[in-house]
Amino acid sequence: MIIAIDGPAASGKGTLAKRIAAHLGFHVLDTGLLYRAVARDIEHAHFRLDDRWAALAAARNLNPATLDDPALRGVPAGDKASVIAKIPEVRAALLQYQRDFARQAPGAVLDGRDIGTVVCPNADIKIYVTATPQERARRRHLEHQARGEPATYEALLADILSRDARDSSRAIAPLAAAPDAIHIDTTTLDADAVFASAVRIISR
Ligand code: DC
Repeated sequence: MIIAIDGPAASGKGTLAKRIAAHLGFHVLDTGLLYRAVARDIEHAHFRLDDRWAALAAARNLNPATLDDPALRGVPAGDKASVIAKIPEVRAALLQYQRDFARQAPGAVLDGRDIGTVVCPNADIKIYVTATPQERARRRHLEHQARGEPATYEALLADILSRDARDSSRAIAPLAAAPDAIHIDTTTLDADAVFASAVRIISR
């Protein structure tokens, strides 16, 4: 069984994917980490992020065991990921890994931008998670404050808006809801309510 969860940055899709996977005993993959790790590896190899060949090499040689690297968290890593995610060769190189991951028994939950549309168009359940940019920036701001990291609400909102624009406007596999996805607007919901509504969708 495959559950695809897509949505924009800071919509709550990652938290939801982990909770569903723990609830069902499924494997879980945060596909944003793949793009974040490719950007990290390009920079470690001292190439520019817009160097297609360096990006392709990094994507082909990506070691999934390095996805728990704390350096992949945070706004700068997400912005760099969004830049290299526009490169078609990078997306193609990461596709098979994601599809193989999705096929594992007893099931898998994948979250990202193009899971229901491109990676797993035949997923059993597709959920598209949204929230207003202002609410997503507010949540990011609280997370930053809790970690003691300096960032203003305005800067986080600006980052979310520019990332939404970049992810939605790229030519290949843009951020989009699959026509058969069920939408959850999390703007006024807490994590427990989002999880409860996803469980209802899955058990239907
Ligand atoms: O979900 P995230 O914030 O970790 O993703 C970081 C960037 O990676 C996101 O802005 C665009 C890219 N991405 C993508 O293009 N396709 C995916 N399935 C997941 C992430």
